[in-house]
Amino acid sequence: MMQVQPIFLKTLLAYIKSTYLPAKRHNPKYPDSFTSGDLHFFAPAVAELSAAFTSERNSRHANYFNTKEARSSYLLYFLVPNMLKVQWIFEQQHFADLFSEETEVRIADIGCGPCTGILAAAQYWQSHAPQQKLSCVAVDQNTAMLKDGRNLLNKLTEHNSKDGTTLTTHAATLAQLRKALGNNRFHILIVANVLNELRSTEERFDFVSRLMSQHLTPNGRLVIIDPALQRSTRDLMLLRDQLVTEQKVARVLAPCLHQQLCPMRIANPRDWCHSYLEWERPQVIADLDMLVGNRKEYLKMSYMVMSAVQNVPKQKIGDTWRVVSAPMKSKGKVEILFCGENGKMLRVTRLDKDRSKENSGLDQLQRGDVVRYGGDERCLPNTVVAIQIP
Ligand SMILES: C[S@@+](CC[C@H](N)C(=O)[O-])C[C@H]1O[C@@H](n2cnc3c(N)ncnc32)[C@H](O)[C@@H]1O
Repeated sequence: MMQVQPIFLKTLLAYIKSTYLPAKRHNPKYPDSFTSGDLHFFAPAVAELSAAFTSERNSRHANYFNTKEARSSYLLYFLVPNMLKVQWIFEQQHFADLFSEETEVRIADIGCGPCTGILAAAQYWQSHAPQQKLSCVAVDQNTAMLKDGRNLLNKLTEHNSKDGTTLTTHAATLAQLRKALGNNRFHILIVANVLNELRSTEERFDFVSRLMSQHLTPNGRLVIIDPALQRSTRDLMLLRDQLVTEQKVARVLAPCLHQQLCPMRIANPRDWCHSYLEWERPQVIADLDMLVGNRKEYLKMSYMVMSAVQNVPKQKIGDTWRVVSAPMKSKGKVEILFCGENGKMLRVTRLDKDRSKENSGLDQLQRGDVVRYGGDERCLPNTVVAIQIP
């Protein structure tokens, strides 16, 4: 279960109030919590931005964070969920162990908004290896968002013992990336909720392949996150196939357990591979959900973790599957889709009459879980489905 550090939330809310709430609305009794009046003040912009993010990408104008309404609502409603998604991936991938031998871990967050990925990295290392030094570079076209990100990181590191984090910001477009990043290579490249803003398949492919070849260390990891929407996720599935299987310029380490063409993309043009994470939704987000008519009960995303081709991932044991659907219950049975190391999808059906203690774990499975499963399409009473706790 993902949850935001209370001290970060408190710091963030105080920052939003002091930076974006008009002075005449300030109530000194509540410096870092939101009154109903405050929530009503920010809710219309939250609703507008939320609608823009779920609509056609063309409906957003190029630098949409130019208004303070858009920036404040992003900080209030989108920053924490997006940070937690990045942190979850870091945890799943054990980045603190992976890079424990490095003198400093170099991280670049591209299209970073308010430095979401870097704030997530700082929190993650604070709880896993606080002595590790982080050297971070943030790139975004929007200067004001970069400033918010820097201010938040400064405040966060003031509270934490973690003072070994440096941040360089570059106000630049993706086309100016080489100028911003120079010849530097990074252990972690973060591209979160940005690819879906690029207009064409070619643009996405060129951008990611150049990023990896010019700016990733040989042992590095590229983390891509996109919204769990059908269209942006299908685009990401296609990009993965182009990079990994067709052009062989990258390896995918997660969520896929194999390097072959994505079987879901081929099987059905309507399906999209996305994950749901459980989280402890902060009260302020639950309150805004009520006001704007959303339901952020789960953290939803599509994601990919990739490495350079020469970086061979460790050998997996057989019979390992990624759960790529929710359990689908109907009369007399439950069905679920697995995607395996062999590059194939398996639709597993368990008849109610076959339910046993050994296979009851199937009922609790969620999209994104990894399981060991030795059976075939029909899940028999004694087929073991063990959930691997990552
Ligand atoms: C939805 S926000 C995501 C911010 C952050 N990565 C996150 O996940 O919270 C997308 C960001 O990408 C930036 N962006 C979009 N297109 C860009 C471009 N061509 N060059 C630079 N930044 C861009 C926007 O300014 C915005 O800050």
